[in-house]
Amino acid sequence: MFGRARSALFASDDPYDREAHIARCLGLQVAQVDLDDVLHQPDEALTHLPRGRGRRWLYRGWLLSADEYEQLYEAVSERGDHLVVTPDELAEAAYLPRWAETLEGHTPASVWTEGDDIAEAWELAREVLGPPPWILKDHLKSARPLWHACFVPEDADFAAFARVCEGLLDFRGDRFVGGFVVRRFVQLATLPFTAENRPVVDEHRIVFWNGRPVAHAPYYDVAAQPIDPSRFAWVGEAIESPFFTLDVARLAGGGSTIVELNDGGCSGLPEQLDPWLLYEAVAEDLTAHGDD
Ligand SMILES: Nc1ncnc2c1ncn2[C@@H]1O[C@H](COP(=O)(O)OP(=O)(O)O)[C@@H](O)[C@H]1O
Ligand SMILES: [Mg+2]
Repeated sequence: MFGRARSALFASDDPYDREAHIARCLGLQVAQVDLDDVLHQPDEALTHLPRGRGRRWLYRGWLLSADEYEQLYEAVSERGDHLVVTPDELAEAAYLPRWAETLEGHTPASVWTEGDDIAEAWELAREVLGPPPWILKDHLKSARPLWHACFVPEDADFAAFARVCEGLLDFRGDRFVGGFVVRRFVQLATLPFTAENRPVVDEHRIVFWNGRPVAHAPYYDVAAQPIDPSRFAWVGEAIESPFFTLDVARLAGGGSTIVELNDGGCSGLPEQLDPWLLYEAVAEDLTAHGDD
């Protein structure tokens, strides 16, 4: 099942150059791919790769939906190699409806719809979550850079909710995935910094590789007390993906909550996270499975 070459596949964009360098230093083979080509002419996008011979490639790059990733997955498979993470494993970590029940009680209560019916989302959220404040996103992503398209305030009526939804639909455009997700808003602990006119929250990203946390750092590049990843190690067993990230945040009232999960390949690594820790684990694993 495992190929012979240790390989990592990267999107050809600047933020990944450093990771690619580290991966090469650790003996991994690196290839860059143009994502536009992958999505629009997947057959041609990979022609510069070495001939397929059962390599396992790890994708690191921009956010892809499961459908988009599937195109890459198939194109790699057709060459006789394969991607370590399957499209279904990507969906398991990246799509909130796939993991919300597994993590119930450890993450804010959530409801979701299929499709973009705003009235349906409103009714469901009021019934299950109670009145706002809420956080809004689609199955994969929020409009976080636009807080007014992400946050539903306490006094929001249907018209106000609909404006937030329209904002999300505008922001996501044809990348809107699945349907609406509405989540109960919880007060996260803040740090003494501001970004985009809002206080920076005490949020941290933990990288899981093969079921265990291998690296973590504050999500934002500010001073923050590190979290203890071992408290979230159980999530590695619960989620059916070899490579995902877990975002956790301290709560204003004490304790912590899981904010969300993401596919590992599509997750940015926080500035303060040392990529060596991740790539060492990747390289060790592939070596352990007899790759050359
Ligand atoms: N239920 C919630 N209560 C309070 N803040 C939240 C909640 N969900 C998300 N946030 C805040 O909004 C940000 C964006 O939400 P997130 O689910 O991470 O969306 P994205 O898919 O855009 O990363 C988070 O980083 C967190 O700071
Ligand atoms: Mg997030």
